[in-house]
Amino acid sequence: DIDQLGQNKSRLILLNKADLADERQNEAWKEYFQKRGFHVVKVDSRNGSGMKTIQNVIQEACKEKIERDRRRGIKNRPIRAMVAGIPNVGKSTFINTFAGKACAKTGNRPGVTKGKQWIRLNKNVELLDTPGILWPKFEDQQVGIRLACVGSIKDDILNMEELALWLIEHLRTNYSGLLEKRYGISEEGTAVEILGKIARARGCLKKGEELDYVKASGLLFDDFRGGKIGRVTLEWAEQEKSE
Ligand code: G4P
Repeated sequence: DIDQLGQNKSRLILLNKADLADERQNEAWKEYFQKRGFHVVKVDSRNGSGMKTIQNVIQEACKEKIERDRRRGIKNRPIRAMVAGIPNVGKSTFINTFAGKACAKTGNRPGVTKGKQWIRLNKNVELLDTPGILWPKFEDQQVGIRLACVGSIKDDILNMEELALWLIEHLRTNYSGLLEKRYGISEEGTAVEILGKIARARGCLKKGEELDYVKASGLLFDDFRGGKIGRVTLEWAEQEKSE
């Protein structure tokens, strides 16, 4: 859908929350999209890194349009841009930071961005904030799982324990040592056993000392999404290349 909407328009891919992802994979994804002709910028919308680069890249991406305007004697017409992305990728936070003032609501829940709004940023750029876009069904179940892990699908419709087991498996396979470091546990055993160790380490207990796996799963995801476990990427750019 975005390909169709964006036909004949300049497109800029912002790899937001770059601070939460594995830097090697950030670079791999950057290269992946650049090879396909996109302008790409790594961004951390919370601390503002990448913002200056974006200004320059926008000018670069819209060079032809600006030049056409200039030939027609139109000066300083603002570039109109739209921000599109699935829930919780940081669209509102990005817009606030880029604009330098609080002008879009943010919140760590899918669907907070509502309605449409043009935001006059400076004399060069106007931004349209749009609701997140989420495709209705996933052909590949793995895609759904990864989106759920990063909080783009509402937690209350998910089985958080099952998801936690998937994340534990991913972490200990690809980022061994991170769980051990965060929770002071060994990464030996099944994923269920590891979730149990996290529950015990963090005092997630039900009445009668029974381990509370649901609570431990919630805690694991809060830590993961907040970057407290470490910089982690869920999908490799290389996988896509072979398709
Ligand atoms: P959305 O409009 O795409 O749905 O996302 P939104 O801006 O609401 O951001 C969702 C969460 O992601 C927010 O956390 C926000 O602070 C965080 N976030 C956005 N950009 C970045 C980034 O570049 N790096 C990191 N580490 N986090 C980012 P929250 O916990 O809901 O809010 P808050 O407690 O931070 O205010």
